[in-house]
Amino acid sequence: MKKAVLAYSGGLDTSVTIHTLTEEGYEVHAVVVDVGQTEDWDQVIDRGNKAGAAGVRVIDAVDRYADEILSKAIKANGLYEAKYPMISGLSRPVIVEEVVKVAREVGAGAVGHGSTGKGNDQVRFEVGFFVLAPDLEILAPIREAQLPREKAIALAGEWGIPIDSVGTTYSIDENLWGRACECGPLEDPWAAAPEDAFARTAAPGARPAEPTEVVVAFERGVPVALDGQTSTLAGIIRAVDGLGGSYGFGRVDMVENRRVGIKSRELYEVPGALALIRAHQALEEITLERDVAHHKPIIEQRWTQLVYDGQWFGPLREALDAYVDATQSHVNGDIRLRFEAGTCTVVGRRSEHSLYDLSLATYGEGDAFDQSDAAGFVRLFGLPLKVWSQKQRGK
Ligand code: ARG
Repeated sequence: MKKAVLAYSGGLDTSVTIHTLTEEGYEVHAVVVDVGQTEDWDQVIDRGNKAGAAGVRVIDAVDRYADEILSKAIKANGLYEAKYPMISGLSRPVIVEEVVKVAREVGAGAVGHGSTGKGNDQVRFEVGFFVLAPDLEILAPIREAQLPREKAIALAGEWGIPIDSVGTTYSIDENLWGRACECGPLEDPWAAAPEDAFARTAAPGARPAEPTEVVVAFERGVPVALDGQTSTLAGIIRAVDGLGGSYGFGRVDMVENRRVGIKSRELYEVPGALALIRAHQALEEITLERDVAHHKPIIEQRWTQLVYDGQWFGPLREALDAYVDATQSHVNGDIRLRFEAGTCTVVGRRSEHSLYDLSLATYGEGDAFDQSDAAGFVRLFGLPLKVWSQKQRGK
């Protein structure tokens, strides 16, 4: 029997995919990668089995996701279109790797995904498979069938796949780095997001009145401790995400540009991701030399685009990460974050390697900056414009 390994999420589309592939004569091995999503695994396994899978495997990759991928996203301040921490784009490489591993183990000739033809995830899965397993056939039955969501729901019902708990109004993708929500009422960009679209951030009326502060310690650009308590990166992300979420911080409502050319309205809940990137940027403010600080965002933007576009396994992403790493050797220190209803603010920063020099910055006593140096500097700095104004500006 032909064997296929499917990147299974437990959701509507991938459950329907299992059934479709089974009907096409495949023995389907469903692989769910735990990248930190909140999930009832028994239910996910049960749904996969009822959909017809030969087996459903849950693979724990939470720490690997944090250590090998999210650490890089923090160092690169990865925000697509300056807002979106790429929770889907960052998790797909781990899923692709795990699916390929299982495909080799069971001797499958094909790998599959449940993405539609309208999104970014098909690109991320398939380009990943092209690199890691160019010999395997790729199956994408949802894209082939061009199934509207309503039809997929009806088919699941017809085929006895229990989807009541899958949440059929919205399409959700969730992991340690945050939660994405699309479809349903969100498709109207003028309509305010209904409160039931949120799950990870407290509603305006349910946020604590008192602010709270937390100190994030970084080593070489990566968070290593919270309030002096060392922890795994996954542990730190979870804690900051939970805290930020309880304050209702981290809601992003945006219209983004997908790789396939569509503008789509997306709702993200990313308290931990935004707070940690913000903290990392604040630490870079005091530890990066000026020219590095000005150049790095150009590299960050390219890095972010590559990740969003599914080019994780390519050589440019690796080369850019080497650049980013070279900038991080002194990004060590502490950032104090304050959470208040709906907000997260950097209120303090300190580092052994800080380039902030009080004797240069102060307007008070102990000033070591000789202001008489400035007059000649400004004269030469402004000389080209002065000459231009005299000769060409016209009156
Ligand atoms: N648009 C985002 C991205 O491409 C999120 C996709 C999330 N998927 C979902 N089924 N809601 O990265």
